[in-house]
Amino acid sequence: MNSDYTDKNPALGALYAEHIEALTARHDHALEQAGASHAVIYSGNPKIAFLDDYQMPFKPNPHFISWVPLARLPFSYIVYTPGETPILIYCQPHDYWHVVPGAPDGFWTSEFDIRIVHSVDDVAAHLPADRQKCIAIGEIDDDALAFDIERVNPTTAVSILHYARGAKTQYELATLRLASQRGASGHIAAEAAFRNGESEFEIHRAYCKAVSHTDQELPYGNIVALNEHGAVLHYTDLDRRPPADSRSFLIDAGAQVHGYASDITRTYASSDERFQALIDRMESMQQDIVSQVRAGVDYRELHIATHKMLAAVLVEAELATGNPDTLLETGVTSAFFPHGLGHLLGIQVHDVGGFMEGESGTTVDPPSGHPFLRLTRVLDENMVLTIEPGLYAIDMLLENLRGTPAESHVNWATVEWLRPFGGIRIEDNVRVLVNDRENLTRDAFAL
Ligand code: GLY
Ligand code: MN
Ligand code: MN
Repeated sequence: MNSDYTDKNPALGALYAEHIEALTARHDHALEQAGASHAVIYSGNPKIAFLDDYQMPFKPNPHFISWVPLARLPFSYIVYTPGETPILIYCQPHDYWHVVPGAPDGFWTSEFDIRIVHSVDDVAAHLPADRQKCIAIGEIDDDALAFDIERVNPTTAVSILHYARGAKTQYELATLRLASQRGASGHIAAEAAFRNGESEFEIHRAYCKAVSHTDQELPYGNIVALNEHGAVLHYTDLDRRPPADSRSFLIDAGAQVHGYASDITRTYASSDERFQALIDRMESMQQDIVSQVRAGVDYRELHIATHKMLAAVLVEAELATGNPDTLLETGVTSAFFPHGLGHLLGIQVHDVGGFMEGESGTTVDPPSGHPFLRLTRVLDENMVLTIEPGLYAIDMLLENLRGTPAESHVNWATVEWLRPFGGIRIEDNVRVLVNDRENLTRDAFAL
């Protein structure tokens, strides 16, 4: 198994030049459309907590990460000019409070004209002299960091770049595969800790240890939910004590490699056979949806098809009665499955561009009644997305069905049975192929 997550990984290095070529073409087009000659991409800077001098965890600009795998390089800039080697203004500040980035090293260095600076004041000397011909891309909340560039994040250029990021380069795919492998190793450790009766907090620690991430390095806060907690979609409390009886376990946790994320969910039963049977049924439904992923499919239709399949599962499990269309129209399926089928995945866990109709920036709305769907595009080759159907006992949503035509379609006694288990979600990361798909998550577990 290739588990070299470092920037010395020769397999990634071999793909990097081609990735830079793709970025170059994308930026050439974006600059041309924006009527500009240079893109100046700012890495970002740590935020300071309100009324405090404490630095919040640094979140780099995803545009910067798409060029260079340096997630801990604040106050730095890439200057891209068509036809020239990109300049990386690499900030190594004189700072004895924080760790200062080391000397540039890794497979990425050969693609850049690297200029080391020791203070933001030294950046200006490396920028194109005519700032009117520049656009800046990044979160620039201090005018001094824009260096007199007036056009910051112009929509024309940014829309082109965001739309293009939907389909991944071979370098990005290789990085995402590694992120899936890293995540899978954490999931295996977490399942063992669950079977050992450990608390949510201890399971989380087992996960972090296996993926070798601090909390801050995780792509999103781990959802480690025992029993009823599985019904809280973004449960991140981490109980310090194990429950008296660990009946069920829902874990939604990812990992990252060079700033690219995985986003994986698994659900387990300890010993209840009926709940295990429902997990198995949800898993086969999820695999059925995955098998429908291919280029040309409208993701909105996949989401609606999932609701229809879920209706059949609800009937089989005696959670509901009625035909699929009725269960969809009356809102029964949405009460049990109130989030979207999935989203684009890449540098951001919910990667940009999920609603984009084209590179001009126009968007496609989610289907009416499904406001939480985050991906409304027609699938294209090499997009990477998640498929994550769920089924939960969420009291607030189910109670809303009382007094509506949906009420008589819900089998309330079975809801009572389900409640102590929380819910089920199964989430894989899937690459779109022309007439097929690659399941990064299943492949990673198989390793
Ligand atoms: N982990 C957040 C999500 O699945 O979208
Ligand atoms: Mn997830
Ligand atoms: Mn997800």
